[in-house]
Amino acid sequence: MSAGAPGTGETVAGEAAVPRHVAIIMDGNGRWAKRKGLPRVAGHREGAEAVRRTLKAAVEAGVECLTLYAFSSENWRRSEEEVTDLKGLMRFYLERELEELAREGVKLRFIGEPSAFGPDLWERLQLAAAKTADNDKLILNVALNYGSQQELARAAQILAQEVADGVITPEDISVEKMGEVLQTAELPPLDLLIRTSGEVRLSNFLLWQSAYAELIFLDLLWPDFDKEAFNEALSQFAGRQRRFGGR
Ligand code: IPE
Ligand code: IPE
Ligand code: MG
Repeated sequence: MSAGAPGTGETVAGEAAVPRHVAIIMDGNGRWAKRKGLPRVAGHREGAEAVRRTLKAAVEAGVECLTLYAFSSENWRRSEEEVTDLKGLMRFYLERELEELAREGVKLRFIGEPSAFGPDLWERLQLAAAKTADNDKLILNVALNYGSQQELARAAQILAQEVADGVITPEDISVEKMGEVLQTAELPPLDLLIRTSGEVRLSNFLLWQSAYAELIFLDLLWPDFDKEAFNEALSQFAGRQRRFGGR
């Protein structure tokens, strides 16, 4: 039995091919650190290494787009110390990895409201996106200060404004139109959503986009995630039969 061509996301002889778009809720850094008797920040640092491995595995597998949930709109509820640590790590890894990302053909982009991290980090993120804008090997889409409900409320505002301005009528608001005003508008449809850490919930991540995504929940903690786990998820995906409401 043959799977479809890499990156087509299509079904060949009843089998799903390589997913075009994979999203990951990278959860469990804190528990990983706790088990080792380390501070939470050590778990986040190790989590960043898991990001490197996963990105490499995604490129090798022929995935077109990888969306990573790095910081939720609700993660501001954490201690000031942890938020500061997370911001520091983002800056550190951005500096360290940018050259290689650019060289490997990765296009970096963001969803959420990363400007809330302050002008310094925000500027670096925008520069990194600009530097890699013409790359086309894989889109690395990082969700930073992202909340799906916030994204949907914002989409409603944009459409309401268009109605108020007379650009569209309420009847013009369709599923397609909604998709166009979400932050994921330019990305391929979401095929596979993975969450690590054993929690079985979406935590305000890609609620609209996951309508027909395949879901995989793993007991692994994010810092333990690796190429083998990623490829195992891809092969589970390949074995699923997607119906999209058909028979
Ligand atoms: C995920 O790991 C990383 C972020 C949310 C930034 P957690 O920090 O949520 O780890 P646990 O869930 O406490 O183990
Ligand atoms: C989801 O994990 C957010 C990220 C992985 C960035 P959380 O750890 O914040 O989710 P909850 O609080 O367990 O639902
Ligand atoms: Mg968590």
